[in-house]
Amino acid sequence: MATTAPDPEFYYPSEDIVSKAILKDWDGTAAAALKDPAAFWEKEALELEWFSPWNKVLDDSNKPFYRWFDGAKTNIAHNAIDRHLKNFRKNKLALIWESEDGRYDRTFSYYSLNREVSRMANIIKAMGIVKGDRVTIYMGRIPEIVFAMLACAKIGAIHSVVFGGFSVDALHGRISDSESKLVITCDGSFQNGKLVELKSIVDESLKHCPTVENVIVVKRTGNEVIMEAGRDHWYHDLCALPIANGKCATEVMDAEDPLFILYTSGSTGKPKAILHTHGGYMVGTYSTMKYAFDIKDEDRFWCTADPGWITGHSYIVYGPLLNGATVFMFEGGPAFPYPNRWWQLIERYGVSIFYTAPTAIRSLMRFGEAWPNKHDLSSLRLLGSVGEPINPEAWKWFYRVIGKERCPIIDTWWQTETGAFMITPTPVVPLKPGSGTRPFFGQNAEIVDEEGNQVEDGQEGYLVLTNPWPSMLRTIYRDPDRYVNSYWSKFPGKYMTGDSARRDKDGYYWIIGRVDDVIKVSGHRLGTAEIESALITHTAVAESAAIGLPHEVKGQAIFCFVQLKPGFAPSESLSEELRQHVAHHLGPIARPEEVKFIDKLPKTRSGKIMRRVLKARAQGLPEGDLSTLED
Ligand code: WT7
Repeated sequence: MATTAPDPEFYYPSEDIVSKAILKDWDGTAAAALKDPAAFWEKEALELEWFSPWNKVLDDSNKPFYRWFDGAKTNIAHNAIDRHLKNFRKNKLALIWESEDGRYDRTFSYYSLNREVSRMANIIKAMGIVKGDRVTIYMGRIPEIVFAMLACAKIGAIHSVVFGGFSVDALHGRISDSESKLVITCDGSFQNGKLVELKSIVDESLKHCPTVENVIVVKRTGNEVIMEAGRDHWYHDLCALPIANGKCATEVMDAEDPLFILYTSGSTGKPKAILHTHGGYMVGTYSTMKYAFDIKDEDRFWCTADPGWITGHSYIVYGPLLNGATVFMFEGGPAFPYPNRWWQLIERYGVSIFYTAPTAIRSLMRFGEAWPNKHDLSSLRLLGSVGEPINPEAWKWFYRVIGKERCPIIDTWWQTETGAFMITPTPVVPLKPGSGTRPFFGQNAEIVDEEGNQVEDGQEGYLVLTNPWPSMLRTIYRDPDRYVNSYWSKFPGKYMTGDSARRDKDGYYWIIGRVDDVIKVSGHRLGTAEIESALITHTAVAESAAIGLPHEVKGQAIFCFVQLKPGFAPSESLSEELRQHVAHHLGPIARPEEVKFIDKLPKTRSGKIMRRVLKARAQGLPEGDLSTLED
């Protein structure tokens, strides 16, 4: 970057990292891409295969409904799998997997990945699923979740993956909103040695989901499950049918055809079904993966996220496979049975790029350096962080103890909606702990005030993106008005991220956090509205408000305030019961840290809950302007 003498504020990459990087001239590339983003993206797109070319790279004639590579034909599965079968990558490992208990590992070359995906695709097709149909996938972190996603893509079905840590209400809402015809699940999953009964959660969710005709069940845990005749089918039984075997043609898709929907939480109301496409999403994930993670054939890439979140979609499945990379996927979490589990896996599989979340780093830091120091971590070359701001203390620990001061930390800022990285360094960019550095090629970010005017460097404001980009969400599925209102109406012509941030004198961006009612608990995105609607289904609850408060390990934790119905009295046990209630309905990730009882929720005269007042009160901070308070 522009600095001549080393600035002590920066962490510079080594000569070795720079000389081997795919992209050495960051400044030149960034400047050129900013001048002509479409030209940059066209060049990236040309590295992939298309069945027929586009008319125009970017069609912005109907803003904010941008279209990318319009008129072109392709299929993301063709580029993630089929095209690699024509060269040496046919025999290269695509996916390596280890079970939580370490008793099993499974490996798949690109050739065998193709066989697995084709088999699943044949089966899905035989169930009557055609191009454009929605398929809900609700599974643990096992190879079949990857096969299921790619199988849908291959035949043009729209996948909707629901994170396995969600429960009945969340799953039911997502299946019925998407009108899925098929659910792919497994008999259960393991979490810290305990069985999670995914199939029975599916059974409960399907009680009122008339669109679902079939359920495919992958056997993972071997526990007893109820199979409803005519509806539920064991995957291994289906695999034995002649129909499952044989080739499966990859469907020719329009670049703008939907690839998947993924539900994410917004400020209000029910979760939003974010829609991504075959063409643009493919180019965005391919290019960001290549430059930010500098991915090469000799790498082994491990992203610890779950495929049920966008991070898993883009950087376990699509981004790495589009680049022909080798992906490692682990079924379990960081500290089971011991806090060295991840470090042991890095050593065992020779992981070279390790991408995780600040909350995990903070929790592992607490166990001390002795755990990672037991292991040879010298295979590591790059580290990555995502999901929430990383505090400098955690950054430095990660850098020193895990990366041994050799590995740049790629702090990637992005969202479900952006599909791919928007603010991120590449390995050649000097780093500052806690900053995602600068916008990715072709993108420009501004910090603006309430009126949309840019604030001065150093000041906090709303983070907006000013340029359209290929992997941007196209809409909220079947709700285009909500798409416009949520992202494009507060600052016309600019994409509102929902985050606040500041930019420093060097042009580096520092994310502060969400400015809406989205809570990031251990990096997981949850809406106050979802938590409140789970609480309200309990007989004792009249009204409730959920807020996020700072938490040392989780980043933010959920606190709830509940107003009870007449006839119910506050008690320790009721508070505990309500926490359980939320966990049962929404999922264990949404279990409130605390449920407190309150006589009356603070509201504006128009009836809106003043969460800001609750937040201040809970932290013993000044409550600010109360002039709009109802009484
Ligand atoms: C929100 C999006 C797509 C990544 C997984 C989360 C926060 C994400 C960072 C980062 C600071 C970050 C933002 C954003 N966030 N990455 N590197 N530094 N904050 O996707 O669930 O859609 O959440 O996560 O607040 O708006 P998501």
